[in-house]
Amino acid sequence: MSRTAPGPCAMVIFGAGGDLTKRLVIPALYNLTKSGLLPQPFALIGVDHNPCDANGWRKGLHDFLESVVNQGGGEFEASSIDEEAWSRLAATMSYMSGDFSDPDTFSKLKSQLDERDRNEHLNGSALFYLAVPDRFFGPLVESLSAAGLTKDARGWRRVVIEKPFGHDLESAKALNDTVLGHLSEDQVFRIDHFLGKETVQNIMALRFANGLFEPIWNRDRIDHVQITVAETIGIEERGKFYEATGALRDMVPNHLFQLLAMTAMEPPAAFDAESVRDKKAELFRAVHQVQPSEAVRGQYGAGTIDGKKVRAYCEEDHVALNSFVETYAALRLRVDNWRWAGVPFYLRTGKRLTKRWTEIAIRFKDAPLMLFGAESAKVLKDNWLILQIQPEEGIRLKFNAKKPGPEMDLDSVAMDFRYKDWFHEAPAVGYETLLYDCMQGDATLFQRADQVESSWRVVDPLIKAWNTAPKEEFPNYTAGTPGPGAADALLAKDGRAWRPIP
Ligand code: BG6
Repeated sequence: MSRTAPGPCAMVIFGAGGDLTKRLVIPALYNLTKSGLLPQPFALIGVDHNPCDANGWRKGLHDFLESVVNQGGGEFEASSIDEEAWSRLAATMSYMSGDFSDPDTFSKLKSQLDERDRNEHLNGSALFYLAVPDRFFGPLVESLSAAGLTKDARGWRRVVIEKPFGHDLESAKALNDTVLGHLSEDQVFRIDHFLGKETVQNIMALRFANGLFEPIWNRDRIDHVQITVAETIGIEERGKFYEATGALRDMVPNHLFQLLAMTAMEPPAAFDAESVRDKKAELFRAVHQVQPSEAVRGQYGAGTIDGKKVRAYCEEDHVALNSFVETYAALRLRVDNWRWAGVPFYLRTGKRLTKRWTEIAIRFKDAPLMLFGAESAKVLKDNWLILQIQPEEGIRLKFNAKKPGPEMDLDSVAMDFRYKDWFHEAPAVGYETLLYDCMQGDATLFQRADQVESSWRVVDPLIKAWNTAPKEEFPNYTAGTPGPGAADALLAKDGRAWRPIP
């Protein structure tokens, strides 16, 4: 499907001077500009408490892009900056400094937006992007509403809310109440950046664009599913954030649950936002609340990653020496519906693991009868379908085949599909599709209020239980290893084992 540039609109970024804006939002807008997908006409207004002006803002962003081009180290991949495209984007930018708690900021913003709308014919449409710490989400929506910025008779008004959406079920409900007290659900775009990843969107294509998989995608043929999001990075500069968050809240009810939903949801009646989101919400409602006996937490000690020594979590900056915040979580989920009853979904994620590796591995049941004798049975390996999300992007099917020769000797083989062998992907930071979709008003890849709340509901018992010090000593895994031994025991109890992180 070829895309066309969205119609006229303004985009206001709160947190214009922040990390998210420079690392992801602006590079995504630049990539959209290059591919001719920036709205026509378009006005980009940066708002931040730091005193700056449009030129200073543009220069800071351009310097950042240049530094990534020259030294690497960011999501933005390019060997040079297309200056012509950059100038087109830069020409749309204006900047406003202001305190988010001061009503005056919002009346000034309204004047600036009205003026640009009049001069640049934006038809009243505007997207407000909240690239700010989560404590500002509710107050910003209230202030936008009080200033009359959330409605316009001629165009649409939408608000993009970043992660984390709440810290537990109660706070997520409270935030939804505040937000939906001022906006209707179709104005709210709750981002989960995992849904911007091509390989994650491809799960829907794999399942629903092929007749091949649906007949075996259920409890009759599937033994269990493993979802792994392994990272080698530690907590970087985010000690304060991480101490208040931990691996469970940071990754599970959002990113890992999106992978779960794509894998386990029922086929939607149509490929539109409400049909897809209804099916995801239905899935989350079918997931049991996880009990502490069905989960394992871990924290990394000092170790070696890629040949470099790294320190223990509790020695990181802004982390308490006796912190019992988890940097690893593994869970066993039960999905109580006709498709999945009795099929466990095992989820794990952690910092400072062996390798950066995200995959969804579907293990099929064994053949019902072993025809090839006891010796063959010993070498037979399991049948797996592995959806590789990152850094490898592809799909692998593992099955058994006969080895050449006079004997009926078997071995495990693999069929591989790799994205890069088939498609040329334009460089992307992962926010391009998400921003484009907000501008088009397509909420398929965004979280609805009920989805967010049902996800928190599933992990709520764990959040409460993990609020206390663990019985076991932390740290309980060494940086650069696959995680705590207790996570292996979680699967061993069920007679299963994690796939090795390659
Ligand atoms: C973020 C988490 O939402 O996702 C980080 O806060 C995590 O802790 C990151 O590292 C992982 O995203 P990606 O795209 O790098 O896999």
